Amino acid sequence: MTVSDVSARASVPGPFPLLVINGPNLGHIGQRLPEVYGRQGMDEVVPLVERLLGARANDVELSFFQSNGEGAIIDRLEAAKAGGARGIVLNAGAYTHTSLAIADCLEWLGIPVIEVHISNVFAREDIRHSSHMAKHALGVISGFGLMGYALAVLALHEYLSGRR
Ligand code: DQA
Repeated sequence: MTVSDVSARASVPGPFPLLVINGPNLGHIGQRLPEVYGRQGMDEVVPLVERLLGARANDVELSFFQSNGEGAIIDRLEAAKAGGARGIVLNAGAYTHTSLAIADCLEWLGIPVIEVHISNVFAREDIRHSSHMAKHALGVISGFGLMGYALAVLALHEYLSGRR
């Protein structure tokens, strides 16, 4: 597996360029509310992907992006499309529950998206039970900690492997 900037890369053949996007307040995972989000940092995601995918990890090229801003996330999604990203793993943080603007972007983007939440949002306050992202996603993974990102990469790998 290589880790690089998919926005500068053209599409097939080769590894699937995938983009992992984290939204607001997800820049300090490992420090923020560890009782909710755990003590591992995002740097644990690549080893988790390697563990879960095994040799298939060579088929994916991961880029990571985090922003606290709604507009910056939309700009990055648009850049990912222009750069030929084949899949998006999106944890939009609190924007999940509020952002029509990000949902509107996902609606037209035409890139498979998997929505991820580190915590089990359904075991938390009611406001976290709804998502503007979910209807535009292939699926939602919630409550598995950072493993959720790796599960999403695996799911995208499976999905895209049938569509080379
Ligand atoms: C979160 C859940 C959201 O409700 C919250 O606003 C976050 C993180 C999660 O990963 O569990 O910032 O998306």
